[in-house]
Amino acid sequence: MNKLLFYGLTLAALMFVAASCQYKFIVEPATDPTETIYFSKDILPIWNDGNNCTACHIAGTQRPNLTPDVAYSEITSMGLIDLANPEESEIYDHPNPENTGEHTWKKYTNAQAATVLAWIKQGALNN
Ligand code: HEC
Repeated sequence: MNKLLFYGLTLAALMFVAASCQYKFIVEPATDPTETIYFSKDILPIWNDGNNCTACHIAGTQRPNLTPDVAYSEITSMGLIDLANPEESEIYDHPNPENTGEHTWKKYTNAQAATVLAWIKQGALNN
């Protein structure tokens, strides 16, 4: 192989690597999966702040009751978490913005959905 061709191919390979790194950076979810997600300070506010979900999901109306003192026992007892298949968990999937067919009432934002999924993948702890 002549030198010029060799350098040309090396440059092309480097550009490809640089381009794919950049692409990966862009599609990276907003939530860092290595960061611990806390039920108390990361998940409950998604449901409760501004009555985002608790406009409807409160005692005596639509289950699951997502208010802080009962939310964890509600979603676990109702089987809304699937630790074996986190993406299938109803508490993640039902109000997911990509799930246009169900729960048209209210959706998570993409960032909220990513946080809920990351929390389930970390074992859905009551932390
Ligand atoms: C405007 C009222 C309203 C709001 C706000 C709302 N929901 Fe719902 N939700 C409902 C109704 C009604 C149902 C039952 C019908 C259905 O499944 O779509 C339901 C069902 C659900 C279910 C399925 C429960 C089951 O038995 O499988 C989940 C999970 C859920 N909601 C989560 C949420 C979350 C999380 C939020 C906040 C991002 C939210 N909901 C906001 C009205 C609401």
